Amino acid sequence: MDLKKRAKVGMVGCGFYAQNHLHAWADLRAAGSDLVAVCDIDSGRAEAAAQQFGVKAYVSVDAMLDAEPLDFVDIATRVASHQDIAAKAAERGIGAIVQKPLAPTLADCVAIVETARRHGSWLAVHENFRFGTAMQRIKAVLDRGDIGAINWARLSFRTAFNVYESQPYLAKEPRLCILDSGIHVLDLARFFMGEVERISCETQKRNPAIAGEDTSTMMLRHKSGAVSLVEATYEAKRLPDVFPETLLEIEGSAGSVILLPGQRAIITSRDKSYEEELRSPILPWTDVRWHVSQEAVLHANAHFLDRFLEGRAADTSGEDNLRTFALVEAAYQAAETHCSVRPEFS
Ligand SMILES: NC(=O)c1ccc[n+]([C@@H]2O[C@H](COP(=O)([O-])OP(=O)(O)OC[C@H]3O[C@@H](n4cnc5c(N)ncnc54)[C@H](O)[C@@H]3O)[C@@H](O)[C@H]2O)c1
Repeated sequence: MDLKKRAKVGMVGCGFYAQNHLHAWADLRAAGSDLVAVCDIDSGRAEAAAQQFGVKAYVSVDAMLDAEPLDFVDIATRVASHQDIAAKAAERGIGAIVQKPLAPTLADCVAIVETARRHGSWLAVHENFRFGTAMQRIKAVLDRGDIGAINWARLSFRTAFNVYESQPYLAKEPRLCILDSGIHVLDLARFFMGEVERISCETQKRNPAIAGEDTSTMMLRHKSGAVSLVEATYEAKRLPDVFPETLLEIEGSAGSVILLPGQRAIITSRDKSYEEELRSPILPWTDVRWHVSQEAVLHANAHFLDRFLEGRAADTSGEDNLRTFALVEAAYQAAETHCSVRPEFS
């Protein structure tokens, strides 16, 4: 079978976070990405993106999919529209990358994955945190066995950064913190420590002006026997505010990794300790505050492009992401029942 060397990409959604995707596709031109069209139901946004990146603008996904010979679409609309757009792509045999969360519920996520499977269509979920430079380098440390068998961890996304300013819709979400940010941290817990046997969770609404929970404290028992604490909150009033960094401590039988603000890691391995700077250089389109998140988009997209061109599933394929989403669903159930819950697909 002849493998493709380049992929024609169509962007769906040209809003707040999609700007990072657009820059990433432009940067990945040499690696084989050809961004050919963008689509947004807001014509102003579609036109602005089309002009900036020198591609064609559409206001209808159907029109774009029917007119352009795309290899895959990159869907960065809000969660409610993901299923419909992903189905339009799958039905035409076009691959899709879908921003997290894949869908509002696990049942909807399963439906998206099954539609892609039925049509034999490639599907990845844009779960970018694990593709960040620091997380990839920490994973390499763990995989080398430098800290031995992992047995305990804390992963925390704690901020009071005003997310409601750049994403005002978040204030109205009935399921907020776990579904929006906790999902990334749960995915990291899986990435580092593997699948999960059971999860318990307490949620809080510390800001009375918003609809959903803004704080979640979760405890996971992994199948390996490791235990991890997974924290996500938008109400941690501490300076410096490290948003959007996830900090972590991972302990193993022979050492530990501690990721501190500024992406500095202290690694202890068999009685020796050393410090490493895991921050990647600022790019022309990344800014100091958002860099950690933005550079993870670039690396995530690079991974998706490579895997698509190789004809292989992404590490965060639709099927893989069901396991992350199952943790989200189990966490909400645990918070409601005050009991630990065995996630589906465990
Ligand atoms: N990975 C991360 O760190 C991260 C950060 C922020 C947002 N996100 C995710 O990105 C996604 C988008 O969030 P956002 O804050 O950029 O939203 P946004 O509202 O700023 O942008 C969404 C865009 O999609 C367009 N749109 C809606 N329906 C459409 C349709 N049917 N066809 C074409 N365009 C359509 C809207 O007009 C809007 O411009 C969400 O899934 C969110 O969770 C991820």
